[in-house]
Amino acid sequence: MSVNSKIYEGKAKILYKTENPEILLADFKDDATAFNAQKRGTIAGKGNINCSISSKLFQELEAQGIKTHFIDNPAPNQMRVRAVKILPIEVVVRNIAAGSLCKQTGLELGTILGQPLVEFYYKNDELGDPLLTRDRLLLLELATAEQVESITHLALQINELLGGFFQRCDLTLVDFKLEFGVDSQQQLLLADEISPDTCRLWDMASTDTNRRVMDKDRFRQDLGNVEDAYQEVLQRVLKAVENQK
Ligand code: TMP
Repeated sequence: MSVNSKIYEGKAKILYKTENPEILLADFKDDATAFNAQKRGTIAGKGNINCSISSKLFQELEAQGIKTHFIDNPAPNQMRVRAVKILPIEVVVRNIAAGSLCKQTGLELGTILGQPLVEFYYKNDELGDPLLTRDRLLLLELATAEQVESITHLALQINELLGGFFQRCDLTLVDFKLEFGVDSQQQLLLADEISPDTCRLWDMASTDTNRRVMDKDRFRQDLGNVEDAYQEVLQRVLKAVENQK
């Protein structure tokens, strides 16, 4: 197979092989989808923005002892990452009720949760990424019991770290989705991306339920100014990183 051949194309990224089997290249696309790709569009500049935000956040987390797949950025929309086998689970952490939690439980949007909620969804587009119980997750052998323990612990730790970081950006971390992978040494690494595509972020300066939205909900709900919100998140992230040097 030739160097840099495509091995996988997802909704937001393309993964390429490199000359080193331990390293892959992730190319972030401007394409945006929602509701299991029933809604499709593009967000101008999203590839560069999400790659930059994710890279900064992975570096922040690495500095705090969280192992991630991040290596470096050969181009603004490209990330070199450690090759991992992605576990087919989407790990969602919620601090405030929004999205599917409101739809499925009747909790009112904006309800502050007494403690963070960690949920597992089956990463399976054909099934529509259903919510899993721990027992179903183990039944389907999507991860081992030890991995579930480690992931839960890591997800809560990441929530603390990201929550604090976004606070310094004047953004409230409402909820977010993580993916984990296992490398050739069986190490569990935080993988995929952390960006306005995968987090709900509310501007602390606004109480207006539409204006405060700084993430992909602007695209999902046709709120407008999607690019501006993504760009604003990037600028705040860069400033927060700069300020703590
Ligand atoms: P939800 O409320 O729709 O379940 O979403 C919870 C969080 O997960 C939210 O921050 C958006 C993120 N998310 C993804 O990153 N990918 C997805 O496919 C979905 C459904 C949600």
